[in-house]
Amino acid sequence: MRQNFLKSKHALIAMIKFLDLKAINDSFEPELSQAIKRVIDSGWYLLGNEVKAFEQEYAGFIGTKHCIGVANGLDALRLILKAYITMGEMNEGDEIIVPANTYIASILAITDNRLKPILVEPDLSTYNIDPFKIEEKISERTKGIMIVHLYGQNAMHPEIQRLVDKYHLKLVEDNAQAHGCFYGIKRTGSLGHASGHSFYPGKNIGCIGDGGAVTTDDNELADVVRTIANYGSKIKYQNLYPGLNSRLDEIQAAVLRVKLKRLDTDNQRRREIANYYCTHNNNDKIILPTHNWLSPIFDSQFVIRNSPSHVWHLFVIRHPERDRLQKHMEDNGIQTLIHYPVPPHKQRAYKEWNSLIYLITEQIHREVLSLPISPVMGTGDVVRVVEVINDFR
Ligand SMILES: Cc1ncc(COP(=O)(O)O)c(C=O)c1O
Repeated sequence: MRQNFLKSKHALIAMIKFLDLKAINDSFEPELSQAIKRVIDSGWYLLGNEVKAFEQEYAGFIGTKHCIGVANGLDALRLILKAYITMGEMNEGDEIIVPANTYIASILAITDNRLKPILVEPDLSTYNIDPFKIEEKISERTKGIMIVHLYGQNAMHPEIQRLVDKYHLKLVEDNAQAHGCFYGIKRTGSLGHASGHSFYPGKNIGCIGDGGAVTTDDNELADVVRTIANYGSKIKYQNLYPGLNSRLDEIQAAVLRVKLKRLDTDNQRRREIANYYCTHNNNDKIILPTHNWLSPIFDSQFVIRNSPSHVWHLFVIRHPERDRLQKHMEDNGIQTLIHYPVPPHKQRAYKEWNSLIYLITEQIHREVLSLPISPVMGTGDVVRVVEVINDFR
């Protein structure tokens, strides 16, 4: 969507926003406002029918027995691990393997539970955890692997399943960025023992505020997560566990129900844009996103970069002179972002890791740039983004 105007020497250039949330939400009207009004009029704002219905619909969409609506994506991951500790499956100090280049939330969920994150380098061609660097990090204290379907691309791989089976590990998926993505005939979020989802406003399916969910096939885990998220209580004023207050509210659930119906169509539009970016780039210094690990079922049917195992939450390119490229984009009226500028092991919050070296992770953080992509982005804007990139020398 074009917004504002950039004054250049020669002309007024229309700005292309990185993500136009208002335009996205406008595209769901009038259903969105009607859904919100329905909740306001009901007089019931928490733990009601909208959440119940969304949980059923989202579990059906992802392909799991259970979905538990929670307050945000970080809480979804925190609650899964807290539930495993409550169930005696994990103990303080146990190790969880996690990609070194993930968004900080995956790691916060681990340390918040006094578990130990073991960082593993990603594969430079997919930005997802390198499955072949995991086994060397497995110790007697390893209890789980948290895979992160980063930027919207499936991170699951047969080697990860082999390790999960061999070492009897819990496989937790961080599906905050990959709603709707497939691995074979299954959707991400249904591949492991449990999965955390974020409905932060800018996600492929987003709330008007915060929201999240846990999906799982495990009856006990679902019950414990649901109970912990509600003060550790199933019956009012009776507390089974020292819990939290982490609930998806009725308004957000009603919003998500409207948006879920269009998620596959919206993801398809993202694929079209990604495909255009990939096939029209002629700047050979730009490193386009690649997709090496095609889901087995779709292997022969889909073009590599257009596989359903990517839902293009972000379209991330790399360039050795990333900052100069970003300035060039900005000068030409195109807003870009960096996901992410500082890796977790270089954050002040994790001072004890600051001297560690993760070369691939650090290279990714130095070189990546995210281009505008969204289901409401017009074709003219998509064409313009490619023209400006191709112009960069
Ligand atoms: C990979 C990843 N994990 C977890 C989260 C946390 O989600 P939330 O912001 O809803 O807490 C995010 C959100 O940005 C994310 O991108």
